[in-house]
Amino acid sequence: MNLTSTDAIAPHGGVLINRIASPDQKADFLAQAESLPRVTLDDRALCDLITIAIGALSPLEGFMGKADYDPVVTNMRLANGLPWSIPVTLSVTEAVAEPLKEGGLVRLDDPDGKFVGVLELQEKYTYDKAHEAINVYRTNEEAHPGVKAVYDQGNVNLGGPVWLLERGTDPRFPTYQIDPADSRHAFRDKGWKTIVAFQTRNPIHRAHEYIIKCALEITEGLFLHPLVGVTKSDDIPAEVRMNCYEIMMEHYFPRDRVILAINPCAMRYAGPREAIFHALIRKNYGCTHFIVGRDHAGVGDYYGTYDAQKLFDEFESGELGITPLKFEHAFYCTRTSGMATSKTSPSTPEERIHLSGTKVRALLRKGETPPPEFSRPEVAAELARAMKVSS
Ligand code: ADX
Repeated sequence: MNLTSTDAIAPHGGVLINRIASPDQKADFLAQAESLPRVTLDDRALCDLITIAIGALSPLEGFMGKADYDPVVTNMRLANGLPWSIPVTLSVTEAVAEPLKEGGLVRLDDPDGKFVGVLELQEKYTYDKAHEAINVYRTNEEAHPGVKAVYDQGNVNLGGPVWLLERGTDPRFPTYQIDPADSRHAFRDKGWKTIVAFQTRNPIHRAHEYIIKCALEITEGLFLHPLVGVTKSDDIPAEVRMNCYEIMMEHYFPRDRVILAINPCAMRYAGPREAIFHALIRKNYGCTHFIVGRDHAGVGDYYGTYDAQKLFDEFESGELGITPLKFEHAFYCTRTSGMATSKTSPSTPEERIHLSGTKVRALLRKGETPPPEFSRPEVAAELARAMKVSS
């Protein structure tokens, strides 16, 4: 089913894409399973296939061809002029690409060799990795995990529309799998006209909670939307993070104003460019507002604290179709005994308790529990428990 702009908020490009094969299409593809040429997807490409199929990346119907890829990398625009900030490509080696015929179907297998999708191959093209890295990631250092992924992938991009054979349920989080068509229905059922989305890849901490609640004061509903697709190996596993969000739902959030759902997308760590991408994805889920805090989707010291926020200003008003809610770096303030930012507290730097995810991971590794100024105690206990089990 395609949803159109009669919804409260139109999907990006106006139509919610659905590339999940119908039962007839699926039967047809399965009948060809043994005769089609194959490409095995890595974990990230599998996440991309799923996110495209459910419409989270509308208006994309598949992996980008050169006509979209080039302007996306250089100008943050699709060929039709719509804003788009991250290339979504299927990159393979020359050896894999060589026998594939443009105009033909390609069978897409998951990393375990299971037939999961089909690519209508329109074109094969080479691309410049350094150019992509510098433009999208603002660096070509391989120490950057997003850049490393680009350098590690194949030299040929396969472009064309895709089909997902079946939208299976993520066995890790069956109750939280709410796809864009479903979230749009849920928001309509609740009668929410303003919905703020929160992207996160880290265990929820007090600064997150603070900016979320500030946003919820001025909107009708919250879409708490942790990313559970591929992340770098030292990020806290999605299962542990979801346990933390569940704890927050139980004790600290008003249940009737919050929907917790998973975002199956893979992380790129592209900072500012990824913040735009994250916002457009949440627009496709039907959200009207999007939280952008400090160093959104950043890694290491590659991006300035507010670079992601500034990038939103490079688009004309209304072009993105979702409104960023920008927040300063939040901290626990010992002078006012509460969460604050420099906008709301007169505290001196010594009176501010900042704890980064990196510092918290270091504490946990030493067997220490994050302090209450950083994490709600129930969340801290869950993190300490998970760390003990994994060590
Ligand atoms: S991210 O990679 O998904 O951005 P994270 O889960 O840490 O990482 O952040 C989720 C959101 O919260 C982002 O918008 C980020 O900018 C914001 N954020 C994280 N920590 C803080 C903080 N201390 N103050 C303000 N915003 C923050």
